[in-house]
Amino acid sequence: MLTAEQNRQLTEVGPGTSMGKLLRCYWHPIAGESEFDDRAIKPLRLLGEDLVLYKDLEGNFGLVERQCPHRRADLAYGIVEDKGIRCNYHGWCFDRTGACIEQPYEDTVRQGRGGRGNVRTTAYPVKVLGGMVWAYMGADPAPELPDWEPFSWANGFSQVVISEIPCNWFQCQENSIDPVHFEWMHENWGQRLRGEDGAYGPTHLKLEFDEFEYGFVYRRIKEDTDETHENWTVGRVCLWPHGFFLGEHFEWRVPIDDKNTLSVTWKFTRVPVEETPYVQDKIPTWHGPIYDENGAWITTHVMNQDFLAWVGQGRIADRTRENLGLSDKGIVLIRRRFFDELAKIEAGGEAKGVIRDPAKNKAVALPMMGRADIVDGFTKAEILADPRKKMMFTSFVFQAGQPDEVKQAFAAAMGLEATEFSGLGVTKEAMEAAGE
Ligand code: FES
Ligand SMILES: [Fe+2]
Repeated sequence: MLTAEQNRQLTEVGPGTSMGKLLRCYWHPIAGESEFDDRAIKPLRLLGEDLVLYKDLEGNFGLVERQCPHRRADLAYGIVEDKGIRCNYHGWCFDRTGACIEQPYEDTVRQGRGGRGNVRTTAYPVKVLGGMVWAYMGADPAPELPDWEPFSWANGFSQVVISEIPCNWFQCQENSIDPVHFEWMHENWGQRLRGEDGAYGPTHLKLEFDEFEYGFVYRRIKEDTDETHENWTVGRVCLWPHGFFLGEHFEWRVPIDDKNTLSVTWKFTRVPVEETPYVQDKIPTWHGPIYDENGAWITTHVMNQDFLAWVGQGRIADRTRENLGLSDKGIVLIRRRFFDELAKIEAGGEAKGVIRDPAKNKAVALPMMGRADIVDGFTKAEILADPRKKMMFTSFVFQAGQPDEVKQAFAAAMGLEATEFSGLGVTKEAMEAAGE
């Protein structure tokens, strides 16, 4: 249980707040690169700031304050040009650094005799990696954008899924270090959703949590696994400060503001051995719905179940009214680490896990279960003979709403016919394979 003040410290992300300062020490995935195939400007709200992300005609991304510094018009309706974005109200033009490079009427009547002054708008650095657009909103100099090892894996099909979740980011991230929820939310509740009323599944017996440079690892043993299982020998990564790494799959919980979170998922699937060598020409991005056509929560897919849990905790979970137990050891650990880091940042220290050395930032490895499966791959016969593998290689189990064109591109890459993942029709083992 926390005090109201502690809860506020963990959850407020705007400029000038303690957590806002800490999170501004890191790069954030904010969009899919392929979203800009058919649009030039995307308005965004990040860490409580209204911004526009745009791609100029030379193909460079820029991220600037949404309101024009002249008289506050909305740059979401601006015009992209070779080297920047122009306001549609009076034509002032800004480059990627935020400098105002043209003021058409002023420039004409003053004829080079000054007047533009030092008008600037707020602008943040942007980079592209893994098919995602990343932003850094902190003080100079920007650290390295972490080059996690999976971004350079070959012979795979990657996809990016984005959803807006109407709750605070911190309760989403607490889910990244909450192993017992797999057993209840995804397995036992999943079983009831499927209409099965038998005994609940194997229960957790032991949990361990270890901190490392880039976050925390949780390890666990259930009734059906022992200490030789990778769940115990390797574990899963709660990636500092707002990510989750499950091997072929990252999830980030990027704060939009104090009451909304951008869920960004990057999923890699290695193609079957027979389809190698394979080079993906474009990483697709799609938007995952969280409600069905009747406005009810979608509960069929693994992450959709998580979303329901996070939002169910309240718009901003009230941690003054919790009763933590032994299963929450990881939650307690990350909260303590965040409080320590907030104090460190206020004192001018370097944030945890920030990479400054470019030589160190090359295919940075993280603890990972199932590494051999990625390196060696499976044959189609192996995939089709195993219901769990077949599901993972022919459908998308993590979120509902995968568009047909992505489904077909994935099926073509795998050389396997697409199947429909209904959630309700799959076995408990299959859900476990997807969630664990
Ligand atoms: S408000 Fe943007 S140019 Fe005038
Ligand atoms: Fe989950």
